[in-house]
Amino acid sequence: MQTDPFFTADILGDLRSMNFAITETSVSATGEYLVEDVLWNYQDARHTDVVHTGVMCNAPFFVTRNSLCTLLVMKNFGLPVPIVLVQYFKDPSALYTIQSLGFGFLLRSVIHMTQETETTTHITIDYHVISHRVLKWLHPIIVRMLKKNFERLLQEDEPMRLRKMELRRMGFVNTSPNRLTYLDTLNISQNNIRFDPAKSRAGAPAVEQVVPVPNGHATSCVKLDDEKQFRLVAQGGEVLVFGTVCPHEGADLSGARCENGRLVCPWHGRKVQPLARIPVGQHGEVRLDALHTTIAYTPDAIRFTPHERRVT
Ligand code: FES
Ligand SMILES: [Fe+2]
Repeated sequence: MQTDPFFTADILGDLRSMNFAITETSVSATGEYLVEDVLWNYQDARHTDVVHTGVMCNAPFFVTRNSLCTLLVMKNFGLPVPIVLVQYFKDPSALYTIQSLGFGFLLRSVIHMTQETETTTHITIDYHVISHRVLKWLHPIIVRMLKKNFERLLQEDEPMRLRKMELRRMGFVNTSPNRLTYLDTLNISQNNIRFDPAKSRAGAPAVEQVVPVPNGHATSCVKLDDEKQFRLVAQGGEVLVFGTVCPHEGADLSGARCENGRLVCPWHGRKVQPLARIPVGQHGEVRLDALHTTIAYTPDAIRFTPHERRVT
């Protein structure tokens, strides 16, 4: 990672010399994912208000490759509080943040990420709570709140970090040339995920599947192999066929809600179009060339047939 060359200020030293009260505390966790998954997650400027409960608004207003300034509105003690959060990298293994907490408090954190084993990452966050001395008696309450928040945010972020590991095992690769920069995460209509058969764990060929036509508002999933996984949603006299891997960053769409004929990605909220539409009560066929699959349908059943992948 190329870092911007302007990080020189000793923020804590400055505040100490001005006699502010500073309380230090740390939290840590270990998870079954890679450092790059955690890094990507922390740099992801667009997921915060979609994924995290309690974040009412997230508006990044100044973003570079290695730094991000965003306005968050969070519920604190039932009140919406505007918070300015600044995040930046001094080096790839540590992420620095400084944020206003509202009510005269400032929080500085340093997030350290280390690859513990081939598949596990250890995360430590060192917090500094800063305020005027007369408010120091409130620091223990803020520390308790930070620890609770850390657990909650981790719980909400972890499914996507684990998903990144699953995608890797299935053979999906990230094609974004600037990944692991804040800037790259801004555009959620970019398609960053591609299946690479050479990386897939599935040795066995894809298998044909026949499923009954779902009726009413039913929804079901069909899996031919790691690449060819489909979600069927019955809606208004049609069956909509979607992929289950969001083309943006790979979130799992197999449980995503369907709104006006599109799946809403649970990670950034992108509206994903169906790959095919099957009219109920008719006979016909649709070819999904990009997924090397033909879908043949009758009024009773839908048949998914994989074809040979052409070497390009
Ligand atoms: S993963 Fe980003 S919109 Fe789906
Ligand atoms: Fe998050």
